[in-house]
Amino acid sequence: MRSLPSSSIDCIFADPPYNLQLRGELRRPDETVVDGVDDDWDKFTDYSAYDRFTRDWLAEARRLLTHDGTIWAIGSYHNVFRLGAIMQELGFWILNDIVWRKANPMPNFRGRRFTNAHETMIWAARGPDSKYCFNYQAMKTLNDDVQMRSDWYLPLCTGNERVKNVHGLKLHPTQKPESLLHRVLIASTRSGDVVLDPFSGTGTTAAVAKRLGRHFVGIERHPDYVEASRLRVEAEQPLSEEHAAVTPAKREMPRIPFGTFVEQGMLPAGTELFDRQRRLRAVVSPDGSLVSGGQRGSIHKMGAQLTGAPSCNGWTFWYFERNGELLPLDILRTESSQTKLRNAG
Ligand SMILES: C[S@@+](CC[C@H](N)C(=O)[O-])C[C@H]1O[C@@H](n2cnc3c(N)ncnc32)[C@H](O)[C@@H]1O
Repeated sequence: MRSLPSSSIDCIFADPPYNLQLRGELRRPDETVVDGVDDDWDKFTDYSAYDRFTRDWLAEARRLLTHDGTIWAIGSYHNVFRLGAIMQELGFWILNDIVWRKANPMPNFRGRRFTNAHETMIWAARGPDSKYCFNYQAMKTLNDDVQMRSDWYLPLCTGNERVKNVHGLKLHPTQKPESLLHRVLIASTRSGDVVLDPFSGTGTTAAVAKRLGRHFVGIERHPDYVEASRLRVEAEQPLSEEHAAVTPAKREMPRIPFGTFVEQGMLPAGTELFDRQRRLRAVVSPDGSLVSGGQRGSIHKMGAQLTGAPSCNGWTFWYFERNGELLPLDILRTESSQTKLRNAG
């Protein structure tokens, strides 16, 4: 990390060693080793050694991030509280703690504790004044048009996604599912951003970043994992910029007056508009006003007037028909911002 230039990274995903071997915590025969971790990379001898290591890499992470960059640090109860405290001390600004609820966790065999069925991801901006990227609208779209919550229910990495060694056995004990990284990167990066994973393991972050049209840097000390990551990343085909684009935020919608779509014939005068339930009807006039039942006004004013509401967002209230499908007016702005992106590209 020290060899990389300052302010060169837009987003960091870090899945650091878990500190599992400490005090023999998880070596006791009566406890499930989380994800079967029993590796050299996880052998810290005491909390202060772990904290020193954590402080070192987090300080470097903060140096590498751009002013508006964000970091995701994932951990379990063994380390996540220490990670969070050190992040706050270093000046990171915590935005959320996301609970990744595992759909298929490892059972607790002896029944002396609850089944450990989640991990926590701390999502933080570089500082309190960072204008960080959060693709709110894309997250809502991903979640069937309902705001995305901070608890994510996703399965562990299994089957073909699991990277195997020459014996056909899983290569890495804690390979993260691609679905988790997909959501992380769609939520907090733009296409073309640079993503860093300082504990890259099997290269999950790099593979998903490449697929989604993001640049990536992966750091990993185990040569077998590095080699496996290389092959994995090589096999990925990046999406084109056009296809990697996600639903833009409302504030990123181009400021186009409704009349422009009428003038340019995308929604010609005479077109019928409806509310979502087709209970109300209005007709588009050549100047972009709507007419209904002898009344005339803008898309917003007519929406409010016909429903008796104090105000109304006409872009989301009114619908038009295209190929037998009822579409909100807003889609015209979305399509026009995508065309702009295509032309810019
Ligand atoms: C929890 S695993 C990450 C797994 C990864 N997220 C994946 O999906 O495959 C942590 C990784 O950090 C690596 N590691 C530990 N200490 C390191 C260090 N000081 N520098 C680089 N890599 C390190 C380990 O070899 C291990 O692969």
